[in-house]
Parts: sequence; C-alpha cells; structure tokens
Amino acid sequence: MAKLAINGGPKLRKKPFPDWPQPNTRMLKEVTKVLKSGKWGIGSPAVAEFEKKFAELHNAKHALMVANGTVSLWVALKACGLKAGDEVIIPPYTFMATAVAVVLANGKPVFVDVDPETFNIDPKQIEAAITDRTKVIMPVHIGGMPSNMDAIKKIAKKHRLRIIEDAAQAHMAEWKGRRIGAIGDIGSFSFQSSKNMSGGEGGMVVSDNQELIDLCFTFSNCGRVRSGRWYEHRHMGANYRPNAFAAAVLNAQVETVVADTQKREKMGRYLDSRLAEIPGLKPQKRLKQVTMHGYHLYIFSYDSSAFDGVHRNDFLRALNAEGIDCGTGYVPLYKEGFMQLDPAEYPWAAGAKYGDIRLPGCEKVCNETGCWLYQSTLLADEKDMDDIANAMKKVRDNLPELKSAVVKKK
Ligand SMILES: Cc1ncc(COP(=O)(O)O)c(C=O)c1O
Repeated sequence: MAKLAINGGPKLRKKPFPDWPQPNTRMLKEVTKVLKSGKWGIGSPAVAEFEKKFAELHNAKHALMVANGTVSLWVALKACGLKAGDEVIIPPYTFMATAVAVVLANGKPVFVDVDPETFNIDPKQIEAAITDRTKVIMPVHIGGMPSNMDAIKKIAKKHRLRIIEDAAQAHMAEWKGRRIGAIGDIGSFSFQSSKNMSGGEGGMVVSDNQELIDLCFTFSNCGRVRSGRWYEHRHMGANYRPNAFAAAVLNAQVETVVADTQKREKMGRYLDSRLAEIPGLKPQKRLKQVTMHGYHLYIFSYDSSAFDGVHRNDFLRALNAEGIDCGTGYVPLYKEGFMQLDPAEYPWAAGAKYGDIRLPGCEKVCNETGCWLYQSTLLADEKDMDDIANAMKKVRDNLPELKSAVVKKK
C-alpha cells in the first residue's frame, strides 16, 4: 500500500495554511476615509500618512510612495544619476524587476553571483565586477534575508558607488538592529499582493538623503520639482504616483506588520530547529548581524546526496502532494528571454551576451538546491510547522517508494 500522497497514499497535511493578504476591519475604515475625502491620488493625506509611518518603521529620514516596486527601483536609479551604458551590479537570483529597472533606466546589469548558502549576492565577488562604468551596487535582500551590508558599504565607499537596496521582499528586516532600506543610499520596497505589507500594488523609496528623495519625487511625478509650477516639467519623469486606496490599506497594516513579523521570525526559527533533525535540509544561512529576518520566503537548501539521489524537484513534488505548498523558485535571470537584449533596442548593452553567462552559485540554487515556502505559511502555529517538518521526514523515510513513483512517471 502506498504511503506517500504522490502515490495515492494519505496526505499528511489536510488543512490549508493561512491565506494572504489578510483583510481587517481597520482597512475598511481607512478605505472609506479615502473614498469620502475625494483625494484618491494627488495630494492624498493617506499617502502622506503612510510615507511618514513607513519611514519611521524603517528607521529612515524620508520616504516617498510610488506606483509599484519596479518603478521605485527605476526612480532610485535615475536619482543616482544613471546615464546610458552605466553599469549596475545586481545578483542573478531575484525577481526579474531588479534587472528590468536597470535596463529601463538605460543601464547595463552586471550580474555578480550569489553565495549558495545565503542566496544573497556574494560580496567577495563584487570588486572583480567593478569597472569605470559602474555607478551602483544593488543588493537584493532575498526572501527578506538582509545582504551583507557591512561588506557592501565598504566596497561602495572605496569605489565611490551608490547603493540601492532592493528591499521589495524585506519589510521590517534588520541588520545589526537597524531596519534595512536606508542603510544604503536608497531602499526600494514593493507592496504587490504577495508582499508582507500589501496594498494590492504599490512601492516606496526610503532614504536619509533629502536630495535623493527629492529627485525620486521628480522622476515619479512627471519631471516636476517640489517648488515648481504644476505645468513645469524640468526632467524626463513620468506618472509613477501611487493610488491613495493602496495607502489606505497599507496604513491599516502599520500595526499588524509588527506582530506578523515577530510571528514569522518565531516560526522561522522553530522550523530551522525542526529542519536540523533532517539530514540533507538546511535553512538559508543567516549572518550573525541579521537581527530580524523579513521572511517573505522561508528558503532552504536540499542536498540530493542525503536523499538517495532524488532530485530536488521530485522531493518538492512529493512534499506538495502531502499538502505543503512549496516551490523551486527562480531560474537564473541571465538565462531568461527578456535578458537577451536586442542591440537595436539597447545599444549600450550590445555585446553583453547574457545568455552565455554561467554563475555556479546561482545555477546550483536554481537547479538543484533552492526550496521555498511562502511567507503566510509562517503565520501558522508550531504544530503547523511540525506538519511541514513531519511531511519532509515522511518523504525522506519513503525514498524507495518515491523513486519508483518517479521512474513510473518517466
Ligand atoms: C526582489 C524584487 N524586486 C522588485 C520587485 C518588483 O516589485 P513590483 O511587483 O511591486 O513592481 C519584486 C516583486 O514583485 C521583487 O521581488
């Protein structure tokens, strides 16, 4: 009789994990307030209120809300003075928007490999990628895990480069007790539906530098300057302003995000302790300076040699069948179709040949080891984390059965 659910056996986990986003009555109140105010966009007090609260939450002096977390990267790059052909160092293990924003700002993405244990950009490999065209280093705090900001800041200072933190996945994460975002020159956040603070859509830039935030304002607001007339467009900006209803929904999350973050941190650490009991599974490495993980994802590594050679994808298929929602994550960005840039469209990137790049750390986590659980899973309780660990154990305890199922399928 089959034991594994993938083979028709009983599912270990029958209940769903918490849904996301989670509506609350405060949201209704905030949305109604915006509705009645008649200020649904420009001049919205809800947007101003959220900017102020978000800056406070992220230990930043200034914050500016924009339409989403892609244009927040774009305005940050423009504010840093990126010109056609300037190079921006990014990791290849990230959502495509990190690279898209660079290309849309007329820049050239330069991929630096990730450390397969932290899944974040490997600071030891950054200097070798710096040229006289490099302007910005853009680390991504992947899954909410802060990148090594001490090492990155040291390199940026030495080579006089700007740092833009892609913190789209890292609300509330901390590096040495300080929330991430304004540790570099500008931090960029997303409020897209899946994010740990969600407005449906939305984005934010934060910074301690007033001048940079004013430039972000300009590029996100049709080239206007704060002191200028309405029909005075000094720079090549566009309308990337936010919708006030998103700000309303987000204002209602300023309090809940604190408790949610603590819950995810607690459950993440508990799950780490349960994973430690299972040979071949290891949580994303956390540097000692990380005082709070943002846990947009619970990332862990899978070692097939401890699973009798079973491929990660088959292990995850079996785990999904047991009722645990998990995924394999990204493919290396340089291999994606959109990165095969047409020189007629992007002449400054001619010769980049992204398709020929091979970065072993990224290839390893994308193809063999990287596994994801999603953030709302960590809003459940310890007994639910036990179900996850027990499902992993169940699959491992039944490898011969899993292997025969895989062979049958092929
Ligand atoms: C790392 C990263 N950067 C940028 C973005 C872009 O954000 P948005 O979807 O709000 O444009 C996302 C998410 O969607 C992301 O995960």
